Parts: sequence; C-alpha cells; structure tokens
Amino acid sequence: MINNQIKNVLVTGGGGYVGSVLVPKLLKANYRVKVIDLFIYGKDVLAKNKKLLQIEGDIRDRQLLTRELKGADSVIHLAAISNDPTFDLNPHLGKSVNFEASKLLADLSLKSAVKRFIFISTSSVYGIKKEKNVSENLPLRPLTDYSKYKVLSEKYVHAKNRPGFTVLILRPATVCGYSPRMRFDLTVNLLTIQALVNKKISVFGGKQLRPNIHIEDITDLYVNSLEYPDEAIGGKIFNAGYENLPVGEVARLVKKVLNDPQIEIAVSPTDDMRSYHISSQKAARELGFSPKHTVEEAILDIKKAYEKGLFIKPLENGLYYNLKLMKKIKLK
Ligand SMILES: NC(=O)c1ccc[n+]([C@@H]2O[C@H](COP(=O)([O-])OP(=O)(O)OC[C@H]3O[C@@H](n4cnc5c(N)ncnc54)[C@H](O)[C@@H]3O)[C@@H](O)[C@H]2O)c1
Repeated sequence: MINNQIKNVLVTGGGGYVGSVLVPKLLKANYRVKVIDLFIYGKDVLAKNKKLLQIEGDIRDRQLLTRELKGADSVIHLAAISNDPTFDLNPHLGKSVNFEASKLLADLSLKSAVKRFIFISTSSVYGIKKEKNVSENLPLRPLTDYSKYKVLSEKYVHAKNRPGFTVLILRPATVCGYSPRMRFDLTVNLLTIQALVNKKISVFGGKQLRPNIHIEDITDLYVNSLEYPDEAIGGKIFNAGYENLPVGEVARLVKKVLNDPQIEIAVSPTDDMRSYHISSQKAARELGFSPKHTVEEAILDIKKAYEKGLFIKPLENGLYYNLKLMKKIKLK
C-alpha cells in the first residue's frame, strides 16, 4: 500500500550497503525515488528504472540539495561516513558529512514540501551498557565521534518535528546479510567471509554483546516508515534490532551454518569492549516491527553469493571495506 501523500522519496546514500537493497524495494512498492550519493563505493549498483533518478553529488552542497529536494514528499537520510574507524580517519570530513550536512538537509527539507523526514541513527549511541535490555529512554554515552555526531544530529532533527513535518529517528543494530554493494567490515559479514575464504575466523575478545539485524528486515522497516500514520512516529525514536549475540557466538554460528569442520576460530585479546544489548520492544509494540530474518540466514545468503562468484577478492578488495577505500580516495 502506498500513502497517498507520499510518493516521491529522496534517499541520501541510496547507493550504499543498505541503500542498494532499500531502493529496489521502494521502487517495487511504487514510489518514485531520487538518490543523492557520491557513490564512493561504486556506481551502477542500482539497476536503471523509469521511476529512479540517480544524482551523483555531495549532501554538503546546499545548492544541490535545494534543487533536488523540489518535488520530494519524504526523505530517508542514510548518507554518512558510516563507521567508527572511517570517521576517525578524517574527523573533519566525518563531522561535515554526518553532522553539518544532516542539519542542512533537515533545514532545507523543512523549508521545502517534504512532509516526512526519516533519520537513520545507530544503536551504538548507547555506548557500554550493563542493562539487559537497552531501551530508547536510557542515557546516551557515545564512545566514538561517529556515535557522538549521530547523537547531535538526532537532537537537531528531532527538534524540527512539527505538524506537517514528521520526524522519525531509527537506531538500527549492526546490519548483516548480502547487498549488491557489499560491506565486509560488519561483524557477521566479516566473520562469514573469513570462514569462506580462509577457513579461519579471527575473533577479538568475543564476549562483547552486539545487536544484529538482517538487511531485509531493516529495509522493510524503512519502507514501512513511509506508511505509518504521522501520530505513530512523529518525534519518536525507535531501536531496530533482532538477535543480540556475543561476537564469539557469531563465530561459532558461522562455523555451524557453513558446516565445515576445517574452519578454525582464533581468539585474541582486545581493548574494544563496547557491549550492549538493545531492546526493540517499543518498535514491536508501537509499529508492529517483527524481524523475520535471522543471522543464520544472513550467513547462508553470503555463502550463496560467494559461491556464485559475486565478490571479487573479498578479503583484499577495498570496495568492501569503508576504511580501506577511504584511505585511497581524497574526499575532503
Ligand atoms: N550498516 C550498518 O550496520 C549500520 C548500522 C547502524 C546504522 N547505520 C547507518 O545507516 C546508514 C547507511 O549505512 P551503510 O551501511 O549503507 O553505509 P555505506 O557506507 O555503505 O553507505 C553510505 C553511502 O553514503 C554515501 N555518502 C557518503 N558521504 C556522502 C556525501 N557527502 N554525499 C553524498 N553521499 C555520501 C556513500 O557514497 C555511500 O553510498 C548510515 O547512516 C549508517 O551510519 C548502518
């Protein structure tokens, strides 16, 4: 079903890992989609479609945003320097893309005809938490600049929520599973590809709890976010995760699912003890969010794609690792 008021969706970062699974779903659901992306990790990830317009550009470009926001009813804001180490590589760049541009996009969207603004944050805003179920009302203790600027952006866009401009903030867990623009710098994906290629999984620490969400479930939620009534989501924040697993458990699961006794799990110490267990009960209760795809399925999807030869040198190729690629290019 399509909301009569929302037909034209602007997706920033639509050529990324999550975006390249999301955009085809939006098209299938009959939305007209405009993507703004620098396509840092490659062009031609999205298949051509009459209802899709791809704009290669920088979300920090005010003129571009002003021009391209015309006609958009809603915005799904994904574009970001999207993990801790890549952010730390050039903190100035990270701040300008993740924070300044998010503010600019929210300001310009409010001035334009956009009625709904969906900001994609992260569940890493909580930092280390002892609580068994980290819910949205707990204090935020971002441990990295990546998380800190997500928090600051959340606050800024949240304050823009008002009648006629519905702001929704989502805090996804770490995403897993296959995407045409693959990332192997995410826990489940990385451990799976290590096992497939090298038959050896390297685990640092292993006890840290990390929340996971399958890419199909998170993108379904993003599509549904265009459909919920304003009063269900306006000015609200929701966690979006499914299985919370210790990293060591993910490694054992990979070995079990791939069913290969030769796979070795090598554990070494780490000082990265970020550990949290998020609760998505609020999204379940208020939005009917009910993830259906497991970490096991994500592992199997990656195995199938690997066996089909869809990855080119998956352990070495910088395309699959945000940090490696960003070290090579000169984005300022
Ligand atoms: N993947 C995850 O596990 C995860 C978890 C929680 C939150 N998130 C958030 O979801 C969003 C998408 O993540 P992803 O995994 O798809 O990341 P990604 O790195 O694959 O995609 C980000 C996209 O943004 C684009 N981009 C970066 N800077 C830009 C700029 N200045 N102008 C225009 N485009 C720009 C990149 O080219 C890329 O296509 C991010 O905001 C990320 O913080 C991701």
